Amino acid sequence: MSGRKYQLGMVLTAAVAVVAAGIAAIMVLDDPRRPPQGGQAAGSGEALIGGPFTLTDHTGATRVAADFEGRPMLVYFGYTYCPDVCPTGLQTLSDALDRLGEVGEQIQPVFITVDPERDTPAVMAGYVQHFHPRLVGLTGTKAQIDQVTEAYRIYYAKQGEGEDYLVDHSTYTYLMGPDGEYLTHFSHGVTADEMAERIRQTLTSPTS
Ligand code: NI
Repeated sequence: MSGRKYQLGMVLTAAVAVVAAGIAAIMVLDDPRRPPQGGQAAGSGEALIGGPFTLTDHTGATRVAADFEGRPMLVYFGYTYCPDVCPTGLQTLSDALDRLGEVGEQIQPVFITVDPERDTPAVMAGYVQHFHPRLVGLTGTKAQIDQVTEAYRIYYAKQGEGEDYLVDHSTYTYLMGPDGEYLTHFSHGVTADEMAERIRQTLTSPTS
């Protein structure tokens, strides 16, 4: 009798644990705009943000992640047809670089599209020039964009049909180090001053 009760208790405890784990997993997976986890410190054993990619820049040249190593990189994911979020994000990023002076000149700004269907190299070329003279636009095949967005934990999803569809997407700006390692990220809504200050702190702190 007590043996069965004990067994029943064990089964119930296990069931509760499974359900709790399931709910936790759903909560994490369900919110596409959750702050990225892990990557606080390169080599911490957490799953890291970033990694190899092969894409095409706005001049039509093939670019791989290693091409960008040797200097910090500020990366934003979005698309040129984005009505207002992407222009705001890219303007903030560009203003932050300008505020950083010489530190900013060392940083490579990169815009990676989540809409490769419409964002051809030519479209990207016309777009990036509106923001920062050194901004590099990257596009690719759907498979290449899926690969790089997965590596950077960027969520995106096409909304609607026809030519005027929108693309819902994560709006983080990532600061990557000279070895391609994740340093920090900024959420949408950060001001250029805040971004500049945190970039300066991150790049000049002894641990970076
Ligand atoms: Ni956007």
